Amino acid sequence: MSELDLKAADYTLSGLRPFPVAVTAVHEGRANGLMSLSAGSGGIIPEAPRVTISLTKYNLTHHMVLGSGVFVMHLLAATPEPALEASMKILMGLGGSSGRDGDKLAAFGTKPGVTGAPILLDALSYVEGRVVGTLDAEENTIFLADVVGAGVLREGERLRIGPAWGRLPKEWIEQYEANHVPQLENARRNRGLVD
Ligand SMILES: Cc1cc2nc3c(=O)[nH]c(=O)nc-3n(C[C@H](O)[C@H](O)[C@H](O)COP(=O)(O)O)c2cc1C
Repeated sequence: MSELDLKAADYTLSGLRPFPVAVTAVHEGRANGLMSLSAGSGGIIPEAPRVTISLTKYNLTHHMVLGSGVFVMHLLAATPEPALEASMKILMGLGGSSGRDGDKLAAFGTKPGVTGAPILLDALSYVEGRVVGTLDAEENTIFLADVVGAGVLREGERLRIGPAWGRLPKEWIEQYEANHVPQLENARRNRGLVD
């Protein structure tokens, strides 16, 4: 086999999904959540929508969605300005550290959805998912869920990761990168790429 062109693969694959989403879950009495760029629509039937997310096994939220079979997937707002600030707080609060190290949701207003999982009140909109299928992909699990609840919480444009990333403080990006290192090591181990 000829050597894989990793640059071409990255050029093709990175940035395919521009909207960061906040995924929340509740399991065994505790609530938690993370940020994800992996969400997508999971079917073509308008009256029976489905949602997919891919969660890295290392992350606590993975364990919780696998255990409970339910989650909420939220879009964040880019406008108006106060909503953007709230979105950045959610992105930084959920995406740069693990719920294993503290209660990340305590800082945010939530209400329980029909699944019991917490809906973030500062989000733009959300769907609630009840898992109907999982693909164990060694480093992560790809979840397919029926949408069993949905809502639009405010008016505004959807937040894209490009402009959001430009607003993140340097210290937070350093923390995000440090948080990413053990996930990547765990993913490589789970794929059998290192010992
Ligand atoms: C923009 C962005 C996108 C991310 N995408 C994913 C993703 O698709 N899947 C995933 O498992 N983690 C993703 N992460 C990483 C998790 O949000 C992060 O590791 C979080 O600390 C996990 O928290 P937990 O251990 O409480 O679940 C992303 C983080 C950011 C900031």
